[in-house]
Amino acid sequence: MTIAQWIQSGAARRAAVSDPAAKLWLVEAAPDPARLAAAEPLLSSDEIQRADRFYRLEDRARAVLSRAALRLIVGEAAGIAPEKLAFSLGPFGKPFLAERPDLHFNVSHSGDLALIGLSAERMIGVDIELMRENLDEVELARMFFCASEHRLIASKAGAAQLEAFYRIWTAKEAVLKAFGIGVAASLKDFEVRLSPGALAIWPLAGRLAPALAGVQIEPVAAPDSYAATVALA
Ligand SMILES: CC(C)(COP(=O)(O)OP(=O)(O)OC[C@H]1O[C@@H](n2cnc3c(N)ncnc32)[C@H](O)[C@@H]1OP(=O)(O)O)[C@@H](O)C(=O)NCCC(=O)NCCS
Repeated sequence: MTIAQWIQSGAARRAAVSDPAAKLWLVEAAPDPARLAAAEPLLSSDEIQRADRFYRLEDRARAVLSRAALRLIVGEAAGIAPEKLAFSLGPFGKPFLAERPDLHFNVSHSGDLALIGLSAERMIGVDIELMRENLDEVELARMFFCASEHRLIASKAGAAQLEAFYRIWTAKEAVLKAFGIGVAASLKDFEVRLSPGALAIWPLAGRLAPALAGVQIEPVAAPDSYAATVALA
């Protein structure tokens, strides 16, 4: 099986990103018996065990299907059979290939979707979130975002507030995932600025500031009720 065959079957599709050295895929990760049967043989026994720990069928399917898609994509780029890939983990858990550290990739999953990014040149981070409506966005923004971002969220209401919150949230996660570090530590080190259809990053302070100067962030077109961002560092 190849990722092209997954795309043909409707189980995945490409998403646009402006950097020609990067590629993005949106993967359907809802429980589907035929897709699961095709995906499971690609996973290692550790990965199957990890997926089996999920109690809910949807969570298990998301883990299996997103990992299988990641193996197909990274395997094809590395010229290694997908089931033979051995992922290593960075200090904060970001998977990488020890034999191809030049090949940058990242995965995110939420709801019934996974987002996978691959870049031959720059570190890449992706984040997708199903926008949940029962959040206290203003309070979360007060706790985790910069003062200006908090003010922006507080100035909006309803669907616009929810969307602004998730656009900033996925941008922050994508940036920190590009660097492979923990999200909680550095959320206030940079400001995310929103404009229609675009995102910009403004480094503020902290150890990441010099590295953040070269980071590019872009919204990813995702189905309604999802927000998604890619970051290239
Ligand atoms: C990684 C992290 C951003 C995940 O966020 P999330 O919204 O819950 O999950 P997502 O679906 O977007 O991403 C999960 C995927 O990101 C990847 N990932 C895990 N850790 C990562 C990291 N530090 N950086 C980038 N990617 C990471 C994995 O592939 C994971 O998928 P998998 O578990 O199926 O392999 C979050 O859990 C985090 O901050 N982790 C760091 C943990 C940490 O700091 N630990 C302290 C250790 S001392």
